[in-house]
Amino acid sequence: MAQPGPRAQHRPPQSLSSTLQLALLAVVGLAVVVAVPLFLTSSTLAWFESTPFFGTHTSHSMSSIKNVAVAGGTGALGTPIVEDLIKSGFNVTLLTREGSTSKAPAGVAAVKAVDYKSVESIKAALAGQHAVVSVLGSLAAGEQTPLVDAAAATSSVIRFIPSEFGVNTRKTPGTAIGGILGAKTGLVDHLTAITKTNKTLKWTGISNGHFFDWGLVYGSLGIDAKSKTVTVYDSGNEKFGASNLPYVARAVTKVLQQAGTADDKTANKYIEIAGFTPTQNEIKAALEKISGTEWATAKAKTADVQKDAEAKLAQGDYSVFGALLSVWQFADGAGHAPDLSSPESGNQLLGLEPESIEPALSAWWSKQ
Ligand SMILES: NC(=O)c1ccc[n+]([C@@H]2O[C@H](COP(=O)([O-])OP(=O)(O)OC[C@H]3O[C@@H](n4cnc5c(N)ncnc54)[C@H](OP(=O)(O)O)[C@@H]3O)[C@@H](O)[C@H]2O)c1
Repeated sequence: MAQPGPRAQHRPPQSLSSTLQLALLAVVGLAVVVAVPLFLTSSTLAWFESTPFFGTHTSHSMSSIKNVAVAGGTGALGTPIVEDLIKSGFNVTLLTREGSTSKAPAGVAAVKAVDYKSVESIKAALAGQHAVVSVLGSLAAGEQTPLVDAAAATSSVIRFIPSEFGVNTRKTPGTAIGGILGAKTGLVDHLTAITKTNKTLKWTGISNGHFFDWGLVYGSLGIDAKSKTVTVYDSGNEKFGASNLPYVARAVTKVLQQAGTADDKTANKYIEIAGFTPTQNEIKAALEKISGTEWATAKAKTADVQKDAEAKLAQGDYSVFGALLSVWQFADGAGHAPDLSSPESGNQLLGLEPESIEPALSAWWSKQ
């Protein structure tokens, strides 16, 4: 019987070896296809994010911002904002007026005195910063333009939060209260224009309604502890937006945690947030429950308040802001309370849970 030649003898083992090799290649290929993305989404991405190149401007789920400059971080709202940012792991540099005697909150990385009228002075102080939060007081609202221009002149600042933090000034132009808020509106217009051409800088405006805890202390909510009286405008059933100061601070932190990531929902946007949207009657009822006694009501008609305030404003009396604000918030049918469940509300965009009005009322009442 003829023996198979050497080639014929080796054919079957060779063919088995090729099949095995192909199978092995397929297994290895599959493993690479599956494992590499898994590897990239965990440890490798964490490493990329820690590098200076990828760490600043890429879109990923971790915060792009590490260093935050806060202007006016010594004030009523600025202090809780600085505290919340530091607690959340940001490095905070405080910008302060030259010669200011304000006390810096504990834990800031640096305090830099600046000339708010000089873009060059501010730009030098912003070296290495990734975000600027302006919490300058109302009287300084018109002095924020050089701050914006300095932020836009850097290559590192990717987010600017202007000193809004009150009523939604996108809705006030053409109204009496809008006449007083013109500097704020003008600054947001300036930010909108400048960020159309500037590819690095984006902005977020935050309207938070009335400072609730602050308003109890400063009497801007029409609540008088001594006489146990609440001034109730119109029916007292209009909902209005209000937030405690730490809640506003949380919103600022959340904006900066999202900024520059794939989750960034507030770039070049003006958002409305609120800790709660109570009516005046609900506040009065909560006060009666907490204090265990009845409170008196002082009635006010918003039509009269508005007329009187407008007459005074025409004479250049800007002290009527509080009266106009009460009308803006409390007038029947005003409709200025944000809808906290709307997908476009700041609360939803930032994942902020609403609060109850009672803790702030109880804390304030316990000090009376
Ligand atoms: N929604 C509300 O109910 C409500 C109530 C009050 C205020 N707000 C708003 O919240 C924001 C912050 O107000 P705030 O009451 O927290 O501010 P604030 O305490 O009056 O002032 C904040 C900081 O701004 C700096 N500053 C003050 N006057 C200035 C001036 N003329 N020029 C430059 N800097 C000045 C000071 O910092 P340095 O000394 O360190 O320079 C001060 O500590 C403002 O936009 C304001 O309109 C809202």
